[in-house]
Amino acid sequence: FTAKKLQGQHLLITAGPTFEAIDPVRGITNLSSGKMGFAIARAARAAGADVTLVAGPVHLPTPHGVMRINVQSARQMLEAVQSQVGNASIFIATAAVADWRPAEFSDQKIKKDGSGDVPALAFVENPDILATIAQTDAAKYGNLYCVGFAAESHDLLKHASAKRLRKGVPLLVGNIGPATFGKDDNALLLIDDQGTKELPHASKDVLARQLVDEIAQRLTAARGA
Ligand code: C5P
Repeated sequence: FTAKKLQGQHLLITAGPTFEAIDPVRGITNLSSGKMGFAIARAARAAGADVTLVAGPVHLPTPHGVMRINVQSARQMLEAVQSQVGNASIFIATAAVADWRPAEFSDQKIKKDGSGDVPALAFVENPDILATIAQTDAAKYGNLYCVGFAAESHDLLKHASAKRLRKGVPLLVGNIGPATFGKDDNALLLIDDQGTKELPHASKDVLARQLVDEIAQRLTAARGA
């Protein structure tokens, strides 16, 4: 028997990278594997939650019993999240969303013309999905518990604390470096208004279960349930 700590909760979670197209065959993306987000989706399902997983392009099987929506770009990810958030009681943003996308998409493959000229790429900023969702009424009034992630190369506590406030989320989870992208293990630093707590180095599956427990405790405290 395992306690179903998230019974009755509906988790909406983003995972993986986004892919921002330049032309029909090219684009920019990053090395996020999606493993942490998929592990959390699996752990939350095991803890009794209904889970909707919005995934960028990753090579991972859908966790059993999880509803998955595949997207490519940040804008598609935001749209998918906004279409589902009305049902959610918890939102966790683990996706490594591209900060910028090419300002223009070329319908046709950009050709190398032999002149040695290189295309000039201009970029525009993508929407911040987490900040957008965390600043909706449901999140502001506590009906939607929002959790963000941070991957920093240095000064994790300082940057992650600032990020928690800037995004407006009660809980920010820092990846304790070095680069965790693609790895099967990690260590996490939880930051909330009570302070910090470290989840020491372990597999992403173990950390996901611990994080689900931590979130369940905070939900109980936040809602006085
Ligand atoms: O600002 P930064 O990208 O470091 O913030 C990381 C957190 O914000 C992660 O939880 C990530 O999923 C989320 N995020 C987002 N949309 C963006 C950028 C980041 O949801 N455009």
